Parts: sequence; structure tokens; C-alpha cells
Amino acid sequence: MSRYFWDRYEVQEKPVGQGKKGVVYQGYDLKNNRMVAIKRMQKIKRAEREAMIMKELGSHQYLPKFYDFFIADNHGHIVMEWIDGEPLRKFKNKHDEKTVVNIIIMILEGLKHLHNKGFLHFDLNRGNIMIVKQNQGLIVKIIDFDRSKLMDKHHEKKKNAFKFAKVNIDERHDLLQVVQLFTFLLTGQYTASYEALETINFDNKALQKVLLKAVYPGYETAQEMIDDLINSL
Ligand SMILES: Nc1ncnc2c1ncn2[C@@H]1O[C@H](COP(=O)(O)OP(=O)(O)OP(=O)(O)O)[C@@H](O)[C@H]1O
Ligand SMILES: [Mg+2]
Repeated sequence: MSRYFWDRYEVQEKPVGQGKKGVVYQGYDLKNNRMVAIKRMQKIKRAEREAMIMKELGSHQYLPKFYDFFIADNHGHIVMEWIDGEPLRKFKNKHDEKTVVNIIIMILEGLKHLHNKGFLHFDLNRGNIMIVKQNQGLIVKIIDFDRSKLMDKHHEKKKNAFKFAKVNIDERHDLLQVVQLFTFLLTGQYTASYEALETINFDNKALQKVLLKAVYPGYETAQEMIDDLINSL
């Protein structure tokens, strides 16, 4: 069953995702003839801010494309690329080390783009990474920029657009969250504890070293971690 929600978008009645702040629907864009995801949020200002961030991020293969923003019946609606995938939470213990490393490198590539644009994601949990089957392989999409923040060092030039988004922290915050995703995919445990990582029996010891280094002293940029991961394979 479907219903008309907005003249241009035909929306499925049953949501595909229900978070704390938004409800996500699958829809069809009748003007552009394509499937879309519509994130409907009660807090219009927050929805607007998230849409602005997505727009600012532009197009990247590991991020959903931003299409449109509109307000209807007192809700903000973000229209974006439909991702035909599943959240990372469903992928624990399912893959060998090499596949996991490839997934993590894609997440880091997406993050690198975000960081270069001056943003931190700030909420890289297992529900905010989608995994999509594509041409026999997997690709990732990082979603949900509701908690994203503008880094201090990039704040000056964009402060008018993103008033309440400033934080005095840097890339390391996101990179530590990536370690949790990494450990989860490998072991099923969601942790970035140095002690826990030391006790895991890795097939690939070089990979274990990268993970330990990612916890302490930590990587300063996504690219540094990507380089070490590639060398570990
Ligand atoms: N572009 C998309 N294509 C397909 N499904 C999506 C898309 N965006 C979001 N979803 C689905 O909707 C869920 C919720 O989306 P999102 O995380 O953006 O909303 P949220 O309200 O901030 O959620 P939460 O508070 O749980 O983090 C996702 O976990 C995913 O299953
Ligand atoms: Mg979410």
C-alpha cells in the first residue's frame, strides 16, 4: 500500500527506519522517476541543518546523495538517494579479515571526505553505516548527519551557516568510533578497548598492530589509517 505524501513523492506507508529524531520512508520521486529515501523530522530546524550539511558534503560514492528538502505538515523532510542495503549491525562475525578491512577502508574514505569538508560525523554507530551488495562485492554508505559538527579549525569560514555546530575536537573522535565498528565486524564485540584488542587472536598480526595504534596513540587523519591498513594486507 502506498499513499501520496507530497505531490511529487509517492511514499510507502510503512517506515523503513524509525530513530529517535526521525522516521525514514521509502518513496518514489515522480518528477525524476527514481526511488528516494525521505527522512521526516519533527524538529524542522534540525532537519534543515542536516539537509544543509548533506548538501555541503556534495557527492561521494560512500555517502547518500542529497536531493531535496521540503516542509510539510509542520515537519522537515530530507529527500536523498535510496540505499538498498542493510545496517552494519547485521554483519557481525560474518566476514574474513580481508573483507572487514575493505569495509573499514571504505568507511575511512567516506570519513576523509567529510573531514576534508570540515565536519565530524560524531555518531558512527552500527545503525549509521549501511552495507550494500554491489557487483559481487560490498560497498558502504555512511548515513545520518544529525549529530555532525563543524570542526573548530574550519569554523571561521562557515560559522554563519552552521551556527550551533562548533566543537573543539578533531578527527580522532570519529576514528576511534571506527575502531569499535572494526572490532564488532571481526569479533562481535563493540569495543575500542586496548586490553580487549590485545586479547583477540588475529590471523594477521600487522592488522592487530594497526588497531592497537588506532586506539593508542591514535591516528590523526583517516588517510594515515588507510595507508597502514593497506600495508597490513
Ligand atoms: N538513504 C537511505 N536509504 C535507505 N534506508 C535509509 C536511508 N537513510 C536511512 N535509512 C534507514 O533508516 C534508519 C534511520 O535513519 P537515520 O539513522 O538517518 O535516522 P535517525 O532518526 O537519526 O536514527 P537514529 O536516531 O536511530 O540514529 C537507518 O538505520 C536505515 O535503516
Ligand atoms: Mg541513525
